[in-house]
Amino acid sequence: MTQGISAQSIIMVTGASSGLGRAVCVALGGKGASVVALGRNAEELAYTQNLVEQAGGRCLCIPFDLLEFDSYGKLFLGLKDQIPHLDGLIHCAGALKRCTPLQYVKADDFRGMLDIHLAAPNLLTQIMLPLIRRAEACTVVFTSCDMMRDNLPNWHGYGMAKRALVYASAMWQMEHPDKPYRFVTLNPGKVRTALFKRAYGGMHPSEVPGPADVTEGFLRLFIAPTDAVNGKSLQLDEALAL
Ligand SMILES: NC(=O)c1ccc[n+]([C@@H]2O[C@H](COP(=O)([O-])OP(=O)(O)OC[C@H]3O[C@@H](n4cnc5c(N)ncnc54)[C@H](OP(=O)(O)O)[C@@H]3O)[C@@H](O)[C@H]2O)c1
Repeated sequence: MTQGISAQSIIMVTGASSGLGRAVCVALGGKGASVVALGRNAEELAYTQNLVEQAGGRCLCIPFDLLEFDSYGKLFLGLKDQIPHLDGLIHCAGALKRCTPLQYVKADDFRGMLDIHLAAPNLLTQIMLPLIRRAEACTVVFTSCDMMRDNLPNWHGYGMAKRALVYASAMWQMEHPDKPYRFVTLNPGKVRTALFKRAYGGMHPSEVPGPADVTEGFLRLFIAPTDAVNGKSLQLDEALAL
């Protein structure tokens, strides 16, 4: 079953205040969709809202810290009467302080990476399930990176969390057989964002695409044939070829 994105679609995007998440929100707006935009920075979220509305969509901004796991229930309760259902959940939030070899990484930095890149997208998916169940179909996208398949040094908890998302999408899919939900992990490749600049300070930004150049890969996941998406982990070019 393919799903599609239309003016009836309601799609939550995390990391919506910057980079990839913001660009995905704008691309969804271009399809007329309603976006539920999550991030901590309210001013930046308001800017995303403007862009989404200019693109033709609607946007509900929710300033929220995804590391406050005890507040997830409150987030759901605040939303459940505001929106009828969720047709999509795109996990784009992310953070990176520094790359460090495992022998030197500090416990807080290591655990921080696991929390924002692994615990948060899984637990947010869990808490939003009642809204997902109210939709006719739903696509849940986990955003990974090159460590999805490549063994690269110095990425400690960040790289491990991103690799584990491969298993996460497969596990969610297996636990929901016969349901119209698609769980998929996407590696957009290197993208010119604030996080990229922190991670690849020595690389010239002109060498990598901007966020708007990769959003089509995210949108394809909603319309591609089920078998090509469900429980899969895809590179950007694989998603674009679907
Ligand atoms: N850029 C790349 O080259 C690249 C490559 C592969 C994968 N990715 C992945 O793509 C995703 C987006 O990254 P990006 O490059 O677009 O980075 P970015 O521009 O730095 O955006 C990160 C987003 O995450 C949000 N965020 C961070 N911590 C949060 C928290 N505790 N609670 C809520 N929101 C939080 C930030 O919003 P606030 O600060 O407002 O909270 C911001 O909107 C990440 O998962 C990243 O790992 C990026």
